[in-house]
Formats: sequence, C-alpha cells, structure tokens
Amino acid sequence: MTQPTPSQPAICDYEGSTYRADFWEGKGRDYEDAVERLILRRFLPRGGKRYADFGAGFGRLINEAAGFEEVVVMDYSRTMLQDAQARLGRSDRFIYVAADLYKLPFAANAFEAGLLCRVVHHLADAPAALRQIRNGMAAGSTFVLEFANKLNLKAMLRYAFRRQAWSPYSREPLEFVRLNFDFHPAYIREALRSAGFTPRRRAAASWLRLGLFKKVLPLRLMVSLDRLLQPLGGMLPYAPQIFVENRIEGAPTALVERDQLFKCPITGAPLHREGDVLLSTEGNPRWAIRDGIYDLKEPLS
Ligand SMILES: C[S@@+](CC[C@H](N)C(=O)[O-])C[C@H]1O[C@@H](n2cnc3c(N)ncnc32)[C@H](O)[C@@H]1O
Repeated sequence: MTQPTPSQPAICDYEGSTYRADFWEGKGRDYEDAVERLILRRFLPRGGKRYADFGAGFGRLINEAAGFEEVVVMDYSRTMLQDAQARLGRSDRFIYVAADLYKLPFAANAFEAGLLCRVVHHLADAPAALRQIRNGMAAGSTFVLEFANKLNLKAMLRYAFRRQAWSPYSREPLEFVRLNFDFHPAYIREALRSAGFTPRRRAAASWLRLGLFKKVLPLRLMVSLDRLLQPLGGMLPYAPQIFVENRIEGAPTALVERDQLFKCPITGAPLHREGDVLLSTEGNPRWAIRDGIYDLKEPLS
C-alpha cells in the first residue's frame, strides 16, 4: 500500500501481486469476464487510431481493442505491465506505461477511446483520476467506465431487512475494505460530468453473481440472461457492476502523433525521447524506458 501525502491519496499497489492467478485463472469468474466483454463490445468504438486501457493490469481486456492501431497499456504496477507484456508481446502497437492515475503523463488529444474497468473501486479520489483521464481524451472520443455499485439489489434487501447498517441510497462512496469502494450511480454521474464527460448509455452487469446460480446454471445461460438484463442499467441500475459510456463533446479532433504522446507528470511539459530516456526541453526531470516499459512513476535521479 503506497501511503498518502497531502496532495496524493493512498494507492492500492498491485506491485508483485499474483492477481491473474489469484482472481481470474480457474477461479470460476468466466461469467463475470464474459458479461463485461458483452458490454465493451456495445460501448467501445470498433476501431481507430489510439486507445488507452487505464489500470489495465495484466491486459485481460486488451483484445477488446483489436481494431485500434495503437494501444496504451497503462498501470501503476510495473510487474502487472511485465505480465501484460509477456502475454501480448513487445510490438510497436502496444505502448506499456507505468504511471499513476492521479498524475497521468499523457498530452491533450492523446486518445480517441479509453477504458477504466475494475479500477475506480480502488481510488480514494475517483473524481481526481477522472479529471486526469479527461485531459488526455480528444473531442469526439469515447470513454467507458465500470464501477462497483453500492445501490445493488442485495444491499437494498439487506438494508430493508436490517441486516446491514449502511444505506445503499446515500451518495457517498462506501469503503468496505481499505481502498475498496462501492459507488452510488448518482455520485459517479456527477463525478463524470464535473470532469467534463457527457455520460450516455449505461448498462448493468453481473446480475447473477451468486455462488448458487453458478452451481446450477450453465455458463451460456447465465451470460444470455445477463445480456437480456444489462439494458435495465439505464433505468434500474441495481446490479453489482455498472458500465457508463461517455463522450467528449465536440467535433472529432486529430490525435497527437506518437512522438508527442507524453507530458511530464510533474511539470506538464511535453516530453521527447532520446535513446531510452524521455525528457523535456528544460531537461529535468527525466524518465526511463526500461525493457519496453515507459516508467513515468518516478523520475531518474
Ligand atoms: C483489479 S485490477 C483490474 C485490472 C484490469 N483493468 C482488469 O479489469 O482486469 C486493478 C488495477 O488497477 C491498478 N491501479 C490501482 N490504482 C492505480 C493508480 N492510482 N494508478 C494506476 N493504476 C492503478 C492496479 O495496479 C491494478 O492493476
């Protein structure tokens, strides 16, 4: 756990974590993975120039960006990025970036599509991270956000029958475990709007996320039922997971070229590459590129 400073919220640090093996592989979450992909295929553009998966982890969902020419795989954890790189390979198409969502190193007009999935629930200051993401998205772009929903059916029933003290109807985020938050849909909508996004379609997922259903129902049936229920997320957002499709208003803007993609996360100055270092015209701070990963977490000393 990276400790907070006055200007920096604490970070849920996955460095060295075995998230892929511990959470996904052989862990009975094929249903969750499948229903998330159904929504991404509806909400993300089919292709384009440059896409970013913010908090991409080991790159689980990168193949949903197959139609994009360049894909930024960004995460705070270097080891997660190494895992992503081992799975996806070191091609020119993938740009691996270690950085902090609270201090993103991307120029304006960097992306025409972006995703934040299973990440905002770790953010103590979600509005700050959304503002950072917004800064890199071009006019006309699409940004898809997934969040863990405190206004879900189970929580509503437990609250009604006095089995839980906290109210699913109150708007403030619920930190149920340190650096793990559930959000009210209205709180997220407000945070998206204040960051400069226009929320559009909403979908709800993982309606059947119960051990009992997983035991008795075939996976294909569960996924088909979820697909039918997902559009309810617009009017009745009561599933454990919500996805929001957002737009940046305005006529589509040309994206910056690849050699102008980065800015200094500390000073905001444009960065250019010299060998395996990124630096600004003023010189310092400088940032390393190590084994194909742009390291914009800590400057070179
Ligand atoms: C639960 S994993 C989700 C990974 C991937 N999006 C997925 O759906 O499989 C959460 C990821 O968020 C990243 N993360 C958490 N806080 C972050 C921050 N402040 N900046 C960048 N990444 C962060 C973690 O390193 C981790 O890889």
